[in-house]
Amino acid sequence: MVKKNIRLEVMQSIEPKVGEFMDSFLIPIDDIWQPSDFLPDPKSDSFLNDIEQLREESKELGYDFWVTMVADTITEEALPTYEAWLMDVEGVNQHDGKQNGWSKWVRAWTAEENRHGDVLNKYLYLSGRVNMREVEITTQHLIADGFDIGTDRDPYKNFVYTSFQELATNISHKRVGQMAKKRGNALLGKMCTIIAGDEMRHHLAYREFVKHIFGEDPSGMMLAFADMMKKKIVMPAHFLRESGGSIGTAFENFSNCAQRLGVYTAQDYIDILRKLNSYWQLDTVRHLNDEAEKARDYLMKLPDRLQRISERMSFPEDQYHFKWVEANGTL
Ligand SMILES: [Fe+2]
Ligand SMILES: [Fe+2]
Repeated sequence: MVKKNIRLEVMQSIEPKVGEFMDSFLIPIDDIWQPSDFLPDPKSDSFLNDIEQLREESKELGYDFWVTMVADTITEEALPTYEAWLMDVEGVNQHDGKQNGWSKWVRAWTAEENRHGDVLNKYLYLSGRVNMREVEITTQHLIADGFDIGTDRDPYKNFVYTSFQELATNISHKRVGQMAKKRGNALLGKMCTIIAGDEMRHHLAYREFVKHIFGEDPSGMMLAFADMMKKKIVMPAHFLRESGGSIGTAFENFSNCAQRLGVYTAQDYIDILRKLNSYWQLDTVRHLNDEAEKARDYLMKLPDRLQRISERMSFPEDQYHFKWVEANGTL
């Protein structure tokens, strides 16, 4: 007997709705913002003056800030890894000739995401505050190293991951934007805030996909969610390294930096989990098998458990020195 592939069936049964999801959660290409909307216009007579101003404003921001900006940029620049990964997920099919809805989604999502690395990279280049060559080497390493987020080709796990991760990036871009604005850098503030807006729409879409899967296969979805949380949601840039460094070594130092700056913290991780639990209404999911009941129990208790652990955690204060940024900052 051929074993039924439930995940594939579930993905196929939701697929007719993907067009609607795209209409609700993505913005038509001709209407959405582009990097040029936020950067000095090279055709304008004021171009050089505008760059001068951009560079002046950048001087107000310090070392930790730039390290975080660089790591956020590199994370966005590794988009080829994410698209390749998602295209390989069960039910996403770019080869069937029938314009599979899920592969259209992945392409359209990628196309929106691509603008983030583009605008951030150009801004970093113009700011004069970072060592671009080191940044570029790290980006090339990260794409070459790929990633392993523990989701396999499972759509359920992948959509848990993206639901989580899109909200995490929303938070960090938003905070970076607020900091820039506070320091008088209105342009960078606006740029990061608008990127954060994209991440929020993407988060809303992925959490909707998961909600639909809960409707079709509640036990399978609950088990996949619990499995992802047991492994912990790793960041997409967890393999981050600097020139000459070994795989993953730069990541921990960057996390400490983001934690110190308050851009993305252990508390945010817990808050995201609480939000997901509540949106997916874990407490009211019905028709669970015994194993999935246990998984639900684990997930419902997890935020409080993590909260207790996080209260005991401490983070190193000493600043590791990245090659990306000269330690000449003000913060
Ligand atoms: Fe992004
Ligand atoms: Fe994103």
